Amino acid sequence: LDNGLALTPPMGWLSWLRFGCTIDCDAKPKECISENLIKRTADLMVSEGYRDAGYQYITIDDCWLEKTRDPEGRLVADRRRFPNGMKALSDYVHSKGLQFGMYEDYGTKTCEGYPGIKGNELFDADSLASWGIDYLKLDGCFADVHGMGVGYPAFGQLLNATGRPILYACSWPMFQEVNGLHPNYSAVAESCNIWRNWVDIRNSWASVLSVMKWIGNHQDKLASFAGPGHWNDPDMLVVGNSGLTVDQAQVQMAVWAILAAPLMMSVDLAEIQPEFKQILLNRAVIAVNQDKLGKQGLRVWRSKITSRHPHQEIWHRELTEGAHALAFVNGLTHAVTVTYTHEEMKLPPLDYDIQDLYNLGTGINQSLKPNETLTLRINPTGVKFYKFKYSPQK
Ligand code: DGJ
Repeated sequence: LDNGLALTPPMGWLSWLRFGCTIDCDAKPKECISENLIKRTADLMVSEGYRDAGYQYITIDDCWLEKTRDPEGRLVADRRRFPNGMKALSDYVHSKGLQFGMYEDYGTKTCEGYPGIKGNELFDADSLASWGIDYLKLDGCFADVHGMGVGYPAFGQLLNATGRPILYACSWPMFQEVNGLHPNYSAVAESCNIWRNWVDIRNSWASVLSVMKWIGNHQDKLASFAGPGHWNDPDMLVVGNSGLTVDQAQVQMAVWAILAAPLMMSVDLAEIQPEFKQILLNRAVIAVNQDKLGKQGLRVWRSKITSRHPHQEIWHRELTEGAHALAFVNGLTHAVTVTYTHEEMKLPPLDYDIQDLYNLGTGINQSLKPNETLTLRINPTGVKFYKFKYSPQK
């Protein structure tokens, strides 16, 4: 969507994966979807360096609404959990130098059963803009999936007509894909800044792998639609939650960087352990994600069970200045030593300086010549994430 936003993949925080639809603040005061959760997360995004690393948006997912509209038909935020209303919360987020995101649903109800926008589109676009939102995730439950190709762009127009620049995150392709339809991705890219392609990611390694597999299997139809202002969204970062080891978290972060995916954390920033925080704040990895060329990377190589490196994958992204980022993923539960050729890595046969992005150390770690192969050791269910820079022979 050409609205001047998301010129690189958006980065931020989204409540869903970690906090879901927790609404009982008496039982779970620290975890319920509330003004307090958003404020403390905003505070931590600043004090812990996430904002300065590029994480900009703080977005409330489902379960922020009252179950019914007000007598005039307007949306109302839950009065107990958001006692000061959404405008005050949005002001708070803005005062921290962050952007404020919210969630609604294209259908009659949100996935958790709160009022959706269907039938109230004008009113709701107006309410959302009047609260000063900068990002809208529009879910697709309780809706006619066939009509989404018309309805989502139409609502985007209403958002645009409010005059407020709002990043538009659509779930339209995901709902069409899971229902066996063929989303018109060029229309999607014209109408949305980011769009979910596939099912919800969950707090597990198996889930991360299955999303990677789906994206890899469908990359030929998806990758070309990504670019400045419009990106495929494989869903939130699981990093920092109980479901992934440090190595697995490094895999997700590396592959999401290769995919030019939105980097939306969903974790309790008050409780995240330092080794996961370090992954989310890794500037070299973020720089790959945010690379200005804006080209989505691909799974370029995958081992067959019978080949010499079963269960390995290579993900490759072209970067500015003729550089390349490669993520070498080991899916096995034991460490492996692997050797790859330029051909397997889809690297033009040139001279390269190689940096290990999770171990930057003192700079250039290694070099590679056209006639050489690259040998690396990869942790169990882990990754080596390298940047290859062309180095003309002196
Ligand atoms: C389905 C979406 O895909 C999730 O990311 C989340 O927004 C839930 N709905 C909320 O109900």
